[in-house]
Amino acid sequence: MTDEWQAKVQKLRQIVTEKGHQAGGGWDHAWQTSLTPWDRGQGPQPALTSSYERDARTKNLLPQSAGGNALVPGCGRGVDVEYLASRGFDKAVGVDLVQGAIDKAHNWLASLPRQPWHDRISFVALDYLSVGQDDESKLDLTAKSLFGSFDLVYDYTFFSALPPALRPKVAASHAKVTKRGGKLFTVVYRLKVDGDGYDGSGPPFKVTPQDYHDVLDAYFDLEFHGKPLEHAPGHEGIEEIMIWKRKEVE
Ligand SMILES: C[S@@+](CC[C@H](N)C(=O)[O-])C[C@H]1O[C@@H](n2cnc3c(N)ncnc32)[C@H](O)[C@@H]1O
Repeated sequence: MTDEWQAKVQKLRQIVTEKGHQAGGGWDHAWQTSLTPWDRGQGPQPALTSSYERDARTKNLLPQSAGGNALVPGCGRGVDVEYLASRGFDKAVGVDLVQGAIDKAHNWLASLPRQPWHDRISFVALDYLSVGQDDESKLDLTAKSLFGSFDLVYDYTFFSALPPALRPKVAASHAKVTKRGGKLFTVVYRLKVDGDGYDGSGPPFKVTPQDYHDVLDAYFDLEFHGKPLEHAPGHEGIEEIMIWKRKEVE
């Protein structure tokens, strides 16, 4: 990690902490000013691809066949959405709060060599946290169309990107969109620091597996927790995978 990259992460954390509870949450400003340190032009995370393709412990826990739907909340440029579409999902949807992010995702997809699965991708500008709210009468049709629709929800850099006070809302939204019996794939980005201290860096908030348990246990049962088979450079020893199954009844 370079000093410049760390400075960007710190700045993003500051903005999201200050504005996280307001409309836009600071993310519109981040996208407008290219304060997007997470987006280093790489492909999908090896933690996701290896779990899907090569890890005997996890492969069979993840929906593999055509016919299902996958969702990436806070999709940004949408690399994970493109990857999941390539795995054969009928529909792969990326949701982001910021229209500028959705525009970037469309432009990035259009820049790739055309693939048959690209027709199964959609990017939607939406406040994902609104989806889990109790008063459904406040939601528009786009938000309602996500209810109970997804066989797989993939969350790497969403839970850890929002201020901790918003985590119950993230969990409620994950629960709302995941089919009963469907899977939630979370990657915990544990910061490599001395002891359990926090060095102020990260994507951008500190997370531990217990943080996920605290808000997800009401809706999901944990099926797998362990280190991924493969990592992006520099992520060794930091990431842990948690695969959850949506409870049939709560
Ligand atoms: C750390 S970035 C990760 C982007 C992408 N998943 C990636 O790894 O490249 C978090 C993303 O979540 C989006 N976001 C923040 N709050 C959101 C919300 N309430 N609903 C939907 N997206 C949101 C931000 O605009 C940003 O693109």
